[in-house]
Amino acid sequence: FDAVDVIRAKRDGGAVPEAELRWMVDAYTRGYVADAQMAAFAMAVLLNGMDRDEIRVLTEAMIASGERMSFAGLGKRTVDKHSTGGVGDKITLPLAPLVASFGVAVPQLSGRGLGHTGGTLDKLESIPGWRAALSNDELTTQLRDVGAVVCAAGSGLAPADKKLYALRDVTGTVEAIPLIASSIMSKKIAEGTDALVLDVKFGSGAFMREPERARELARTMVALGTDSGVATTALLTNMETPLGFAIGNANEVRESVEVLAGGGPADIVELTLALAREMLALAGLPDADVEGTLREGRAMDSWRSMIRAQGGDPDAALPVARETHVVTAPRAGYITRMDALSFGVAAWRLGAGRARAQDPVIHAAGIDLHVKPGDAVVAGAPVMTLSADDPARFARALDALGSAWDIGETPPDSVPLVLERVT
Ligand code: URA
Repeated sequence: FDAVDVIRAKRDGGAVPEAELRWMVDAYTRGYVADAQMAAFAMAVLLNGMDRDEIRVLTEAMIASGERMSFAGLGKRTVDKHSTGGVGDKITLPLAPLVASFGVAVPQLSGRGLGHTGGTLDKLESIPGWRAALSNDELTTQLRDVGAVVCAAGSGLAPADKKLYALRDVTGTVEAIPLIASSIMSKKIAEGTDALVLDVKFGSGAFMREPERARELARTMVALGTDSGVATTALLTNMETPLGFAIGNANEVRESVEVLAGGGPADIVELTLALAREMLALAGLPDADVEGTLREGRAMDSWRSMIRAQGGDPDAALPVARETHVVTAPRAGYITRMDALSFGVAAWRLGAGRARAQDPVIHAAGIDLHVKPGDAVVAGAPVMTLSADDPARFARALDALGSAWDIGETPPDSVPLVLERVT
């Protein structure tokens, strides 16, 4: 086959035949198809789309580029969760131990943050001693003994995706539904989980701003999972406002531990419970008492075992930033809006995020909100505390927050956090 023919077929709006598409992915992974050619192909896909069969073949080809894991010998059902990413999204931290406390195995292969979205591994690395890299054997042992594992995806899973995602990142071709769906699902199917729950976000802090686009992405991914034998469902959830009160790394761990102790912010608890119910239903436990278990702190043992198994000390003090800056309300009223994207950018500028994949994050940096939309404030009341090691960062963060939140005369209409289920 010839890469130029494949590019032309997609450029002209046609469907790429199965054998050609498989060849293109394989040849690209091996270096026979050049980055420039794959970038042109990705742009053609972004502009002209792919039909369901093409998306399935693309996903299968990416899976075939690497290893396939299997947890078949474990003797437990495995259920994973994937979030398309947001601001303040620490749900994996309470969720994985909560679900594991019911005897279900949760292999949560996770990533790092990039730009304004945080990464689960970065958050957990604020716990002294905790390590993200596990061998496949360590992963299996921990799944058997503890039940919950949050670790870095090994480089053997879908290497074609790794190469293609890096290329999309620098060629303006990230936002194509066929490419996002095949990228996420190739890794999840190769991981070998029995079941998968997707948290597909919409709103200012999400990949897909519009609920309609998020719904299309969710449907595409659910179909890919189901077609390949992974029981898959999705929730469409609101990412217009940061989740919880903490945005950063160490502070998000603190907030997650509060949730595991039976407290924590209402939105974090609601989403954790909604996703846990989905995961446990797929694992054959639709009547599990997730609410009682979380409220009574019974998932905390799983959390502590999970952190210890990966070298972390669950009782260690978390890092604290050298400097803080409190933002206060200029007048009395109700908080009407907090724009997730702007808060994500501000936390990133404080040091909580990274601009390039190889950059470190500052675990103690971030934002702690004191109020959320709907709350009343008096003039001078603290609205948020910014934390950073270098006070020079405050001005740049405040710049991002300039028009990110409002105070009005009346509280805003409340919006549902979980919009709908996609099956
Ligand atoms: N996350 C992924 O893993 N891939 C994408 O394409 C987008 C988000």
